Amino acid sequence: MTNPSAPSTPSAVLVTGGNRGIGLAIARAFAEAGDDVVITHRSGEPPEGLRGVRCDVTDAASVDAAFTAAEELLGRPVEVLVANAGITKDTLLMRMSDEDFDAVLDTNLAGAFRCARRASKGMIKARAGRIILISSVVGLYGSPGQTNYAASKAGLVGLARSITRELGGRGITANVVAPGFIETEMTGQLTEDRRATYLAGIPAGRFARPEEVAGVVRFLAGPDAAYISGAVVPVDGGLGMGH
Ligand SMILES: NC(=O)c1ccc[n+]([C@@H]2O[C@H](COP(=O)([O-])OP(=O)(O)OC[C@H]3O[C@@H](n4cnc5c(N)ncnc54)[C@H](OP(=O)(O)O)[C@@H]3O)[C@@H](O)[C@H]2O)c1
Repeated sequence: MTNPSAPSTPSAVLVTGGNRGIGLAIARAFAEAGDDVVITHRSGEPPEGLRGVRCDVTDAASVDAAFTAAEELLGRPVEVLVANAGITKDTLLMRMSDEDFDAVLDTNLAGAFRCARRASKGMIKARAGRIILISSVVGLYGSPGQTNYAASKAGLVGLARSITRELGGRGITANVVAPGFIETEMTGQLTEDRRATYLAGIPAGRFARPEEVAGVVRFLAGPDAAYISGAVVPVDGGLGMGH
């Protein structure tokens, strides 16, 4: 049975921060599956084989312009939004400046809000759409030195659940993917001791590949996930059980 509210196939996908890291793996997974993909990037050129538009998610006008440019490239409104752009500015609570707190919230939480708000215009008209917010295990698990980052990532849960309650009846789903430790440049720089300490807390006994996050994102954007909304899907090898 086909689902009336599923995005078209191939889907029109926009991945913020899709020029590197997890966002790039997500963008490549959609592209390899035959979907029409546009990524956002802040500088340089888009990665080979992918179309890109400039976007700074902290700036509403930039988000609006990026969606307009993406929709021109795609030939139709964005059907699947993956809000992946994110930053960290870690330090202990007592030392954290207002600027460091605000910058992380502005990018990770308000940035996702700006993108979801802009994406919702086309999705409401189409009565179909998928919004996938890339959070972190840290959002619900907590992490010393990451009060700003954890607060921003926890906020995405409230954002997705409120979108679900507001737009669920219009064929739009909003879900959160919460990765744990992923093999990226960042985790590649950890000392062996640090790596061993982190690994000891992960039931799976390993970090994840970015492609393992991408697979879950693709599932949530696909027809089999039409009835999943407001969910927090961990991709963390069991680290944050209890989500
Ligand atoms: N790596 C992990 O282990 C891990 C674990 C859990 C969750 N996550 C989350 O997964 C997402 C991707 O992480 P990653 O490790 O792939 O990070 P990354 O390699 O540092 O990439 C971050 C991406 O976000 C973009 N970005 C940052 N600020 C932006 C802004 N103001 N406007 C537009 N784009 C902006 C960056 O663009 P530029 O290239 O222009 O800087 C880059 O494309 C993040 O939301 C992160 O919090 C990561």
